[in-house]
Amino acid sequence: MALVIFPFKEEEPEVLLRNVEVALDHPRVSEVLCVGASEDRCFDATSAEAPKLTKSYGKPVKVMVQERIGGLRPGKGDGMNTALKYLLEETDHERIHFYDADIVSFSEEWITKAEEAADEGYQVVRHYFPRSSTDAMITWMITRTGFALLWPRSVLPWIEQPLGGELLLTRGAAEELFSDPRVRRQSDWGIDTLYTFSMVAHGLSISEIYIDVGKLHKLYGALTDLKAMLIECFSALQSLKDEPVPEGTKHCIEYPGPVRQEMKEKVGYDLERSLQLLRTGWSDRQAELLELFPRPVREGMLACREYPRFSFMDEDTWAEVYSVLLDHFDPGDDDWRELLFKLWLTRVLQYTTTVALRGYDYAMHYLHRMVARYVHRSLTGSSAA
Ligand code: LAC
Repeated sequence: MALVIFPFKEEEPEVLLRNVEVALDHPRVSEVLCVGASEDRCFDATSAEAPKLTKSYGKPVKVMVQERIGGLRPGKGDGMNTALKYLLEETDHERIHFYDADIVSFSEEWITKAEEAADEGYQVVRHYFPRSSTDAMITWMITRTGFALLWPRSVLPWIEQPLGGELLLTRGAAEELFSDPRVRRQSDWGIDTLYTFSMVAHGLSISEIYIDVGKLHKLYGALTDLKAMLIECFSALQSLKDEPVPEGTKHCIEYPGPVRQEMKEKVGYDLERSLQLLRTGWSDRQAELLELFPRPVREGMLACREYPRFSFMDEDTWAEVYSVLLDHFDPGDDDWRELLFKLWLTRVLQYTTTVALRGYDYAMHYLHRMVARYVHRSLTGSSAA
């Protein structure tokens, strides 16, 4: 039987409570735990309802505040790790499921498909969804790119949504992850990167299942909304760069279905407001740090102080930039943080205007091929066509 976790932070209580009921209704689920970042309005509303739900479904529903487990900014990582700790120390459930609290399209299918893959013997099951061609820009430009450049022979580059927060772990998999000090330390947005990394590093078998309704979460405004997440995801990856990962672990991906027109037409972020961000927040020190980068990058970035520029940041240039960042980026330094953000922004804008503009199917094919080319580059030292 399974424990279902909803980590939350300032969510709409109605959405979370509806999702809790979907989980309680499922025959495989024997307990639901909501882990809050703090005692916010959602925490109070959910706590007030929990005893009634426990009674009407005859299954425990608990609400708790996350513990301080890690060593970085207290965030989603502490929440997820609190749930693993609860599973291992307080219960004997055989499986744990994680779902983001704000999903408005959650249904019993999400739980059933994950349980079925676990019944086949997979130790980890990950949900993946169709996403718009201009969404997932941290996933593609930071995480999958980094996985391809750093661990080209492992399955890491091929994981569809390495930052996805919807997954199932068997109890044994949960034990492996929770006993990994790198995982416990990662209290911030880097936690998804660490879970993905650790499951592959420990050689766990992974099944990725496709949920075609997708997550229907809110769109981002200007890309500033993603700044903290970007920085924490990149630093997480950087902290792992010298860690070994085995080749050839077991991994399967369910073939995706047709994507709805609505998703194909969705624009992921506000282009005009993002362009403006390239001109702001510069310091002399950032200009000095640019000395570390290839000349077209240095010159292009400096020109951004006058007028937004980004056409120089193509796929190969980004790989060079990425390796400089891996060597030199300092997450504790505000100028480095701002510079990483701007560099990533030029990559996203270059991709948006030369690739995403050509249409959804073209863009998705490009992104998958891009990862394959980075794998090739890393294995052979040369770019592939
Ligand atoms: C990503 C964030 C933007 O997956 O949702 O890249």
